[in-house]
Amino acid sequence: MPRLAVIGHPVAHSRSPAMQNAALRALGLGEEWSYEAIDVAPEAFAELVRALPAEGFAGVNVTVPHKTAAFALADASSEGAQRIGAANTLVFEAGQVQAHNTDAGGLIASLPRSPRGARTLVLGAGGAARAAAWALRAEGAAVDIWNRTEARAQQIHLELGGPDQAREAVDIEVRDLRAVVEFDQSDYELIVNTTAVGLHGEDPFVELPLRRDGFGPGAVVVDMVYGEGPSTLLRAAAAAGATAVDGIEILVQQGALSLRIWTGLEPPLDVMRAAAHGI
Ligand code: ATR
Repeated sequence: MPRLAVIGHPVAHSRSPAMQNAALRALGLGEEWSYEAIDVAPEAFAELVRALPAEGFAGVNVTVPHKTAAFALADASSEGAQRIGAANTLVFEAGQVQAHNTDAGGLIASLPRSPRGARTLVLGAGGAARAAAWALRAEGAAVDIWNRTEARAQQIHLELGGPDQAREAVDIEVRDLRAVVEFDQSDYELIVNTTAVGLHGEDPFVELPLRRDGFGPGAVVVDMVYGEGPSTLLRAAAAAGATAVDGIEILVQQGALSLRIWTGLEPPLDVMRAAAHGI
């Protein structure tokens, strides 16, 4: 009876248990596998994770605020998790903890088309921004990072795109990731909001340097903030003719990638999407 879970703090609001249990049932695994939510404070996180394999867990998702700690305690990790410095998916196998980051692949999978060669803007400089910036560059996009606190955007630039990391790679990699203070919104084919703006009703067109009417034709706008219905940012983007991608779609796609890692099976995306929307 393999067990799975999402570990967070808090975690009661998470849609992952409903989504993953629906997926397990659709795959015919509902009688064997189960997916639960575990709330644990940061100081108890590592000890809890170490104890999970003995309790029948095959793996877990990890969410805020444990993603960095999850990466740090792993015995082995994927290249993405290493470069991002955070993990949202752990696999317990042969006495080892393996770390993956499916937030990165989940973002890419949620896009209507490949971002290869696109000019993209990432707003924010927390863990979600690092994952987005790494994922977009790995797909061959040029990435500009803007953050309210500029020094944090510079830090991502240094860590993901600075000369040390790019030394073995080609020079263009260094040019392709920039921290920006000012920008022309209409230059971007893709804009990804990873900031918390909108979470508590903030107006993105007040808090962020974006204009309602400033989206380029055919732009794609991703808002990782999700609540009930489309966010103010996504409503404005859609009204301006841009393609809107919401945080629930990213939740679905990252969850699907995690499920594939644990089970080796093709995730039922439609079932997961419906469950994540509470349908
Ligand atoms: P994550 O959850 O992605 O790891 P975090 O570290 O909690 O992120 O950071 C949240 C992000 O939202 C930060 O980029 C933060 O900007 P600062 O680095 O300047 O704090 C951003 N953020 C939160 N509230 C904001 C606001 N009102 N205006 C602009 N940015 C905001």
